[in-house]
Amino acid sequence: MKFAVLGDIHGNIEALKAAYQAALSAKAAKIYHLGDLGGYSPFVNEVVEFLVEHHIEGVQGNYDEAVANDREHCGCKAEEPLQEEMAHRSFVWTKSRVSLKSKDYMKNLPTEIKFNAGGKKVWLFHATPKKNNLYWYEDRPDKFFQEMAAKTDADVMIYGHTHKPYWKDFGGNVFVNAGSVGKPKDGDPRACVTLITITADKLNVEFLRVPYDVQKAADAIIASGLPPYFAEKLREAK
Ligand SMILES: [Fe+2]
Repeated sequence: MKFAVLGDIHGNIEALKAAYQAALSAKAAKIYHLGDLGGYSPFVNEVVEFLVEHHIEGVQGNYDEAVANDREHCGCKAEEPLQEEMAHRSFVWTKSRVSLKSKDYMKNLPTEIKFNAGGKKVWLFHATPKKNNLYWYEDRPDKFFQEMAAKTDADVMIYGHTHKPYWKDFGGNVFVNAGSVGKPKDGDPRACVTLITITADKLNVEFLRVPYDVQKAADAIIASGLPPYFAEKLREAK
């Protein structure tokens, strides 16, 4: 079985459309998303509509939970005061524009999706098995990976939230961070589409980087009244 996973779309409809086409071209039998549908780019409602229209199932991210429930804070971690301020402006902006329909969709997303592929148990979640706002970076110690695996009965764990893709095979447990479609932070501004092929005797993970009109997406951020800061971050993939 070959399927595609779309991590952290964050209101970037241009990136989502390109990612979707790339997943279809790659002949993915099924496409999933990993939540965090709004924030930083303006098209939160369009993203939700697109996912519904194309039957793309997915899980709830911290941003979705916070927007849908009118929280005071997005649950995102900032590294410095400017980032904190910008993130908060984006969160307030998103809460003021999100439709009731989108909120409803986000509220009802499951925290996990589980299925079997090629005899392997696959789990999808936004950040970690039990917490949706913990940053699971590649350089976490092996112990952290083992602790997370112990919270599941999965053979393959697929998640996002950090916007930096990687995968590791610990022989028995496979860990895949699917990166981000709409707001990559690994220095490559192209949308990230994660393709996973699982058969009885092999497992393969591929991070497709899909070019799209980043400038158009950046212009839309500025035109929307969101801080231009996010247009710059999009272009730099930081
Ligand atoms: Fe997130």
